[in-house]
Amino acid sequence: LFSSGLIGQSWAMLFASSGYEIKLFDSHQSQVENALSNIEEQLHFLEKEGLLRGELSRQEQRERISSCSLLEDCVKDSFYIQECVPERLETKKRVWSEIDKLADSTTIFASSTSSLLPSNISQHLQNKNRFLVVHPTNPPYYAPLVELIPAPWTDDDVVPTTKSLMLQVGQVPVILKKEIDGFALNRIQYSILGEAWRLINDDVISAEDLDKVMSSGLGVRYAFMGPLETAYLNADGMHSYYERYGDMIYALQNSFGPPLKMQGETGDKIQKELEKYSCPVSEIPLRRQWRDKRLVALAKLKKEL
Ligand SMILES: NC(=O)c1ccc[n+]([C@@H]2O[C@H](COP(=O)([O-])OP(=O)(O)OC[C@H]3O[C@@H](n4cnc5c(N)ncnc54)[C@H](O)[C@@H]3O)[C@@H](O)[C@H]2O)c1
Repeated sequence: LFSSGLIGQSWAMLFASSGYEIKLFDSHQSQVENALSNIEEQLHFLEKEGLLRGELSRQEQRERISSCSLLEDCVKDSFYIQECVPERLETKKRVWSEIDKLADSTTIFASSTSSLLPSNISQHLQNKNRFLVVHPTNPPYYAPLVELIPAPWTDDDVVPTTKSLMLQVGQVPVILKKEIDGFALNRIQYSILGEAWRLINDDVISAEDLDKVMSSGLGVRYAFMGPLETAYLNADGMHSYYERYGDMIYALQNSFGPPLKMQGETGDKIQKELEKYSCPVSEIPLRRQWRDKRLVALAKLKKEL
């Protein structure tokens, strides 16, 4: 694993839960030490909550993860490298150039990027045919979706092999047949955010009520099925759905208008409301813990169903 921040730590725990040996490398050695103690804490928490993945004990999983101070040692003999450095194209290109010089020609090169196109990160690499994006959803331990996005030059075996690896560690891989800005998850996420912004900008609804539209409405179903199956079940199949609602939906979609920039008075209005119904900015870390507890409960429920 190349780098040991938030996402690097999650990947380490996921791979270790299936028995893989993980070597953690970071440009800041102290960060690796921090990461290892965070991982230790998280494994304790997961064990206590009964959420530890895989068949191995907490101790066995922890022992699978080691630190590595020399990049050569990390890359040598690795069959898969997951890069999790900050989201800057130049940084990613630079670290992949370093890995490229040391790696085996069969090693899979996977980047965790959430927004950069695989072709832009890998075009300069000698082993660019081994490269793909493997984009996790945060927090990966409770939100198992992973988007796999090949570059135009990625070898045919790379996506299926990575898909098998993801299934083995308990994630849910989806494959994008070609690269596109935002991949699938963020294109959908930002469409929702864009329309939410417009409804508040046009003073149709309050921020608090808008959030309820998702948390008590659409989101309840979306925890178990996507928008296509939702439509399918809301009528007698997809043909029946669009015969009934297609014209109305099309007219509505045409009324959406161009995207609005997130800024100005609407931004101030949303911020003010969120400080009341969610929490003041200073209490965000506490509210994240509240969120994570609920995600744990949902993950438990989904496991039991
Ligand atoms: N956080 C999320 O919600 C999320 C979700 C999906 C994907 N991602 C992607 O994962 C990647 C990492 O995000 P993060 O949230 O873990 O970031 P982070 O800031 O928590 O971690 C980045 C790590 O990279 C290390 N680093 C910086 N420069 C380096 C270098 N040159 N060589 C090696 N290590 C270096 C830092 O020490 C740090 O440990 C990004 O591409 C991000 O877009 C993040």
